[in-house]
Amino acid sequence: MTGQFPDTRLRRTRAAGWSRALHRETHLTPADFIWPLFVTEGTQVEEPVASLPGVSRWSVDHIAARAKEAAALGIPCIALFPNTQPDRRSDNGAEALNPDNLMCRAIRAIRDRCGSDIGILTDVALDPYTVHGQDGLLDNAGYVVNDPTVDVLTGQALNQAAAGADIIAPSDMMDGRIGAIRRALEADSHVNVQIMAYAAKYASAFYGPFRDAVGSGGLLKGDKKSYQMDPANGEEALREVALDLSEGADSVMVKPGLPYLDIVRRVKERFEVPTFAYQVSGEYAMIEAAAATGAGDRDALVLETLTSFKRAGCSGILTYHAQDAARLLNG
Ligand code: PBG
Repeated sequence: MTGQFPDTRLRRTRAAGWSRALHRETHLTPADFIWPLFVTEGTQVEEPVASLPGVSRWSVDHIAARAKEAAALGIPCIALFPNTQPDRRSDNGAEALNPDNLMCRAIRAIRDRCGSDIGILTDVALDPYTVHGQDGLLDNAGYVVNDPTVDVLTGQALNQAAAGADIIAPSDMMDGRIGAIRRALEADSHVNVQIMAYAAKYASAFYGPFRDAVGSGGLLKGDKKSYQMDPANGEEALREVALDLSEGADSVMVKPGLPYLDIVRRVKERFEVPTFAYQVSGEYAMIEAAAATGAGDRDALVLETLTSFKRAGCSGILTYHAQDAARLLNG
């Protein structure tokens, strides 16, 4: 209960830094971050992504060094996304099943270099491997077919788990894929491999720079609205989360992040499970663009935004700012 002014003055506890520290309700630390990293072919390659200033694609030999840096900063987990060579993309995304694909080589390189010092999260979806940029298989009408796609995604998940992935993160939004992947992991004795379900993933305009980074943007015709969620829907997100949990997800994710913090809060309150959010590429680009024009101080914008994810109820945040934010937080 709040008393009446002047007995109660809420500014009292804000008056000094020590007191603000004492009363702070939300604490952001490097352990809250999952750092997405883009992998590309070659050796000693760093390719800046034009639409994501400060973000690069790294060759496999460099990627392990990035993971090592992340671990040293206290970041517990990285997320990998491959920029597959054009000649390895196909209609059915078969490269996703290749045990020597870019993703699997990156997983093994990080595991070799970092042991179990850092978690490796891998994205399950076909868009980095298809010539059409969709996350699944198409029928003749160009519709992304659900059940045959789930079969391929299950193979992709097993391929990643065999290479050493710790967390399988299906970002495809097919129905039933969490259950199928969980059963396959159990049957293949990957009982401790986690699933973080992109449970409430919206058909968002904020994914553009990511699609540049994995090279699927120029290929994609149309949109992903027949599988990703309508940004207008909240109740449906709760149904998606309920299903993914019942199918064996260990944690769930809301994506994008900042425009969907109401969904994070509803999920957290309803289910009381580990709930993550993905601050996606367009959100990162927006902050960088704002800072570049002088609309705000970059470091302050970054930390305020990430703190708001924690305040909304996030267990952790996938963010391209992870390394910079961890450095800021570590002083
Ligand atoms: C692919 C995938 C996307 C992102 C993560 N996994 C893009 C999409 O669905 O088109 C977006 C991440 C970002 O924008 O940072 N299934």
